[in-house]
Amino acid sequence: PTRPESAILNELSLNIKAGKTIALVGPSGSGKSTIIQLVQRLYDPVSGRITVNGYDLRDYNLSYLRRKLVPVSQEPTLFDATIWENIAYGLDPLEVTQERIVGAAKLANIHDFIISLPKGYNEPCGEFGAQLSGGQKQRIAIARALIRKPSILLLDESVQLALENAAKGVTCLVIAHRLSTIQNADEIFVIVAGQIVERGNHNQLLQREGLYYNMCHRQITE
Ligand SMILES: Nc1ncnc2c1ncn2[C@@H]1O[C@H](COP(=O)(O)OP(=O)(O)OP(=O)(O)O)[C@@H](O)[C@H]1O
Ligand SMILES: [Mg+2]
Repeated sequence: PTRPESAILNELSLNIKAGKTIALVGPSGSGKSTIIQLVQRLYDPVSGRITVNGYDLRDYNLSYLRRKLVPVSQEPTLFDATIWENIAYGLDPLEVTQERIVGAAKLANIHDFIISLPKGYNEPCGEFGAQLSGGQKQRIAIARALIRKPSILLLDESVQLALENAAKGVTCLVIAHRLSTIQNADEIFVIVAGQIVERGNHNQLLQREGLYYNMCHRQITE
C-alpha cells in the first residue's frame, strides 16, 4: 500500500484444493510472502480477488478468518513461559487439556523432544525462546497453531519434519527456500517477478528441466 505505483504480483492466478499442500518457490523479492500476506488480509489486492470456498475474502468476518488461517513464521514469537503455556497461548484455559496439548505437539513432531527435557512440558522456553533451536521454536509455534484446529496453515519457511505430519487434512500454503522441504507438496508454484512461471509436483518440475530443475541442481552442488 505504501507504493501503489509498483505492482508486485502480475496476473497471478492459483487455485488450492482443500487438504492439499501447496508450495511457493522463487527468487528473493518475487512475491511469495506477499501472497501469504494477502491471504491473511494484512492488505487487499488493488485489483483482482481472493476467494475461500467461493466467497471473497473481504466478505468474511476478519476475526473468524484469522482463527481459520493460521500463519507460522520463520522467526516465531515465543514467550518467556513454559512450553505448555506457549502451546496453549491465547486459548481459553477451560479448553486446554493435556490431551490437546500433547496431541498438537505430536502432530508438530516436537513431543519426543519435549519429554526428553528435565521438566518436560513445564520446561521454560527462556526469553524469546532462547533455550531452543530455530527448528524447535518453529515446531512449538506449529503446535500452537494446530491446537486451534486451523483450516489453512500458512508456513513462511517450513521445517520438513514438522510439515509432513501437520499437513494431514489441513490445507497448507508453504514457502520454502530449502527445496528439500517441499518435495512432498501436492503442487509447487515457481514465482518469478510476481508471475507463475512453472507449476507441478516435484517430479514433474524436474522433468521439465526448467527453472525449478536448475534451482534444485544448484542447491545440491552448493
Ligand atoms: N512493505 C513494503 N512496501 C513496499 N514494497 C514492499 C514491501 N514489502 C515487500 N515489498 C516489495 O514486494 C516485493 C515482493 O516481496 P516479498 O516479500 O513478497 O518477496 P519474497 O518472494 O517473499 O522474497 P524472500 O524470498 O526474500 O522472502 C519485493 O520487491 C519488495 O521490495
Ligand atoms: Mg518472503
